[in-house]
Amino acid sequence: MNKKPLILGIETSCDETAASIITEDEYNKPKILSNIVSSQVEIHKEFGGVVPELAARSHMEKIDLIVKKAINDSGRKLSDIDAIASTAGPGLVVCLSVGLSFGKSLALSLDKPFIAVNHLEGHALSPKLNSKLDYPYLLLLISGGHSQFLSVENLGEYKRLGTTIDDALGEAFDKTAKILGVEFPGGPQIEILALKGNPNKFQLPKPIFHKGGCNLSFAGLKTAILKISKSIKSDQDRYDLAASFQKTIEEILYKKTLIAIEEFKKNNLTNNNNFVVAGGVAANKKIREMLVNLCKTVNFNPIFPPKELCGDNAAMIAMVGLEKFKFKKFDKLNFPAKPRWPLDENALFMKGAGVKL
Ligand code: KG4
Ligand code: ZN
Repeated sequence: MNKKPLILGIETSCDETAASIITEDEYNKPKILSNIVSSQVEIHKEFGGVVPELAARSHMEKIDLIVKKAINDSGRKLSDIDAIASTAGPGLVVCLSVGLSFGKSLALSLDKPFIAVNHLEGHALSPKLNSKLDYPYLLLLISGGHSQFLSVENLGEYKRLGTTIDDALGEAFDKTAKILGVEFPGGPQIEILALKGNPNKFQLPKPIFHKGGCNLSFAGLKTAILKISKSIKSDQDRYDLAASFQKTIEEILYKKTLIAIEEFKKNNLTNNNNFVVAGGVAANKKIREMLVNLCKTVNFNPIFPPKELCGDNAAMIAMVGLEKFKFKKFDKLNFPAKPRWPLDENALFMKGAGVKL
């Protein structure tokens, strides 16, 4: 049997210091040998958001320990590693630089190939860690910094079908949580509060619901929630507002996903009908259920990464590394950190005043 590639993935783009070792089994299916994620939530909690300098300092303090632990837990040796894949963007430049420099140094000292990974491509390929998934497929990427519909045509080949023109969906969850007095990071808590509330109590806006194709907009929601929050008095009101927010998001995603599926079908020359939902917000149970039901009506196959692989992790970075390794897509050691690095480089920048829908 040929030796299966052993890939080390490193992720430090925001507030998780993560390292993972993956390989393939005898059927060429990816196999996670270790997946270590160290969250910095406790550090950033008191500031209500991620403080880049503190995040970078914490990455520096922990990176070698986390990588050592990933190697130990994998049961393999450092010298067995075939390639090192580090996130190079997008993200906070001071944070990216830590994992990127660490990965490059390790590659240089071991004389092994280095692979620079786009964090968003990590989310896009994360379901491949558990499911067989052929190109092309439709992707809804919903995280703290991005919200996009993409046609994933091949490794490294993306066509953006729609994007948010303002806030990302995770950001909308986090801002709503802050307004409702929930501690950072509040997104996952909103889902829990919403279970206790009446989703029909408050009417919230659905920006660009009837225009803009499958582009998205969430900033108006935050403003409406801020206004309503000034007049709410009881905990029940808070639950009702959380439930109304969750329901509005589901309605927006339902409508926009139907449009994205139509767009995807127009350009898709194969019979593939997989719909992948990835990124931190893909952990939201109600959004998952709604999208599973939607897929039944249009004969698409919904695919979600397991919850522990929805948020930031290094197994998904190693997954991109594994695919690139097979095609010998290696990078030079002067590959820069890229704070902005869109998956579809040809897509128009859609944020700010003057955006035409
Ligand atoms: O993918 P991710 O871990 O980091 C980025 O690349 O941004 O996504 C984090 C985002 C945060 O905004 C967080 O509040 C949101 O995902 N999130 C959720 C849930 N779990 C995480 N939002 C809604 N419901 C959840 N269950
Ligand atoms: Zn992410």
